[in-house]
Amino acid sequence: MARSWIHKSPPEHSLYHPLSVIQGHVESVLAPSAGRHVSTSAFLATIAADTGARDAVPIKADTASGSDRLDAMDLDGYLAAQFAHPTGLGGRLVGRVMNRQNRPLYEATARLLDLSDQDSVLDLGCGNGFVLGLLAGRSRASLTGIDLSPSMVAAASARNARFVRAGRMAVRREDAACLSSPDGAFTKAYSVNTVYFWEDVARTMAEIRRVLQPGGLFVNVLYTNETLARLSHTKTGYQRHAPGELVAAAGRAGFEAETTPLLGGSAYAVVSRAPVIG
Ligand SMILES: C[S@@+](CC[C@H](N)C(=O)[O-])C[C@H]1O[C@@H](n2cnc3c(N)ncnc32)[C@H](O)[C@@H]1O
Repeated sequence: MARSWIHKSPPEHSLYHPLSVIQGHVESVLAPSAGRHVSTSAFLATIAADTGARDAVPIKADTASGSDRLDAMDLDGYLAAQFAHPTGLGGRLVGRVMNRQNRPLYEATARLLDLSDQDSVLDLGCGNGFVLGLLAGRSRASLTGIDLSPSMVAAASARNARFVRAGRMAVRREDAACLSSPDGAFTKAYSVNTVYFWEDVARTMAEIRRVLQPGGLFVNVLYTNETLARLSHTKTGYQRHAPGELVAAAGRAGFEAETTPLLGGSAYAVVSRAPVIG
């Protein structure tokens, strides 16, 4: 992870701290073929045009110094909005950032899920489908990904086209708080870094409980509030939940839940089990 991403108080020209993280992805997304140089201003202008976020990301070239330095007044706000609801080019970029930064969390999720070929699994807020692809490559479990963002549903479907074609995976646009699946459709479910964006945690937990079979497992993976506080782009748009709050919400939805620390304590999973009946 680029160190500049976790500055508590970003330096005055904080433009470069989020950009330094995504810099490596810029050329590949904006200019995949020609190896063309993509300037910072071109990058931000493309994002602004792509998302209609021109007001949210005021762009001003520093012509006095002749450099490519820009002022992005609310780049953190822009990034927060993209993590919550990725769309267009900005969504594709934050998707790549997530995949790179969160790989250890994805691996921890896979370990906690411990899939067998007989499992039927739901990914809530699957983003660009990276974790779905990882799991599909490691077991014959049946996988379903849902996400609110049409851009992410398209990205996840494209990334996993061969699994979708083979009938091993389905990806669709859906709200985690209002699932179309019948009761008891899945043996396991998971969600990585999405609970901050759920509008109604109680209702979402009740939905997850409903679609899980008795004995089913739900692994909810997230960063701690202390970790979130060190990330400047999470100041707005991210709801903070205490671990006890999430365990209690799982209990009220009918789960038996406990927390498991991950990544040396900077993240954790709320591991919830639906009781076995009888
Ligand atoms: C930070 S991204 C995480 C994506 C993916 N889980 C990962 O870790 O790579 C959050 C994702 O949750 C999705 N999301 C937010 N609220 C949602 C909801 N209520 N139902 C379904 N998806 C949601 C967003 O569209 C976004 O793709």
